[in-house]
Amino acid sequence: MSTAPVRMIGQHSFLLKGFASAEATNLLADIKHITSQSPLRHMTTRRGYQMAAQMTNCGRVGWVSDSKGYRYQTEDPLSDLAWPSMPRSFLTLAKKAAEECDYDNFIPDVCLINCYYPRAGMGLHQDKDEKDFTQPIVSVSLGIPAVFLFGGLRRSDKPDAYLLEHGDVVVWGGGDRLRFHGISPLKLAHHDLTGQCRFNLTFRLAS
Ligand code: SIN
Ligand code: FE2
Repeated sequence: MSTAPVRMIGQHSFLLKGFASAEATNLLADIKHITSQSPLRHMTTRRGYQMAAQMTNCGRVGWVSDSKGYRYQTEDPLSDLAWPSMPRSFLTLAKKAAEECDYDNFIPDVCLINCYYPRAGMGLHQDKDEKDFTQPIVSVSLGIPAVFLFGGLRRSDKPDAYLLEHGDVVVWGGGDRLRFHGISPLKLAHHDLTGQCRFNLTFRLAS
């Protein structure tokens, strides 16, 4: 695990440059294993729009979106089986990143895996489907770079933009837990470990 600098991007928000770099190959191998059981897929919004990023989950629950809206559920709707369990490598990294930012005892029960190809992005949104907002969010970037938009507590607040590169981790919680955030459409790029893809692992305590 790296001891790279911790950059404050909010009162309770941190960018840990390269924090996951040393673990990246293990994380990617575990992603491969997870997606062989619960494949990446384009989910749709309540209104029927396809999301640009492909998603899957591991952990006790998984985040899903369909014509009924957003929610967490214990089964993968593609198989009606439980989501793959959260690998040790994921849990260890998420806990260490949270601790680095003084969020102790963070034990996520879900990791949402997003996969973005060039031109895919994610609009500004809040993560607010979880029961307990006292727990932080830990977000790991792997593969090609992306621009993270970090807004305020109101949708209209102008977001700051941060480049997220392979191995970077963002942690936000406390009074920043409900800040709007998103991802600008990715530029065409190539990474030796992921090809044209960016993976994002988002760890949360949902239930
Ligand atoms: C998300 O907010 O779910 C994803 C953010 C990211 O891809 O970095
Ligand atoms: Fe989010």
